[in-house]
Amino acid sequence: MNIPDHILSKVDENLHNKKKHPIETVKKIIYDCFPDFSRFDDISPKVAVRSNFDDLLIPKNHVSRSLSDTYYVSDDVVLRTHTSAHQTEMLKNGEYSFLVAGDCYRRDEIDSCHYPVFHQIEGVRVVESVVDIESDLKSNIELVIGSLFGDCQFRMRSHKFPFTQPSWEVDVFYNGNWLEVLGCGIVHYKIMKSCGLEGSSAWAFGMGLDRLAMILFDIPDIRLMWSSDERFIGQFDGSIKKFKPFSKYPPCNKDISMWLGDSFCENSMNDIIRGMSGDLVESVSLQDTFTKDGKTSNCYRVVYRSMDRSFTNEEVNNMHISCVELIKSKIDCVVRE
Ligand code: DAH
Repeated sequence: MNIPDHILSKVDENLHNKKKHPIETVKKIIYDCFPDFSRFDDISPKVAVRSNFDDLLIPKNHVSRSLSDTYYVSDDVVLRTHTSAHQTEMLKNGEYSFLVAGDCYRRDEIDSCHYPVFHQIEGVRVVESVVDIESDLKSNIELVIGSLFGDCQFRMRSHKFPFTQPSWEVDVFYNGNWLEVLGCGIVHYKIMKSCGLEGSSAWAFGMGLDRLAMILFDIPDIRLMWSSDERFIGQFDGSIKKFKPFSKYPPCNKDISMWLGDSFCENSMNDIIRGMSGDLVESVSLQDTFTKDGKTSNCYRVVYRSMDRSFTNEEVNNMHISCVELIKSKIDCVVRE
């Protein structure tokens, strides 16, 4: 319904299963923390709206459900927005300690650490005794963090997720900064009940693999994850290794100003630019905005830069002109020439 071809073409890439890829390496480090858990990493990302949202008690009016945030295959099927989408079916199938890794999809802004396709890993464990569940969760989180980051400080901050109660976000102190690395909590009793598990308790966590890989391998731009350039992929051997950047090509900036219509959607514009330029777009950022006579004007700066080659001015100009034409015809706005 709102899934461009360049996104659909990513569905079979499965970077999390690609041997020696940084994302696969991070996945395996986490796998090794849970040797007796069942592992699932080839479940289709096309999931029922029910599994992705309703079963997880995500309210009907939650923004994450909107067409501007989520890719819909049909009215009741989405590209999963998180691996939590598999929690309830696993629990109903009698899986009581499991890991699910997979590609997830969200419509989002364009910059060096956002890409509409990313990877997550989910861990869930049902425990018989409720008494120690929080400390069991905490010691497992500590284990994962220690395996990834070595001996470093971490903190669990109270947070809210609809599907866990209580819930936490976990930050790690790494290279002088607090980095948010995962969400976790105690699975909501209503979910346990709907899975026929009243009387038992479970903890769950979910973490993004791309950003972890970027941090641990010093990868400066998330688009590199998708590169098949030997100069990138040839650097890795299945262990954590600092990436040695190859020469950076010069950027080319283009500005585009427009009057916004009532149904203007920035993420739809981003999809057009990403679709037209492939991975040549590095960022799209709002430079300026003003309102006059009740109408709003936005000016966006589009930065084009290739990860692996130089391009001619003519190539970028033509690509940008095509983007602008498509924006004019598909997006609710009037481009100011
Ligand atoms: N699904 C959440 C997200 O994508 C992450 C998450 C939070 C997973 C808490 C969990 C959890 O299993 O308990 O942001």
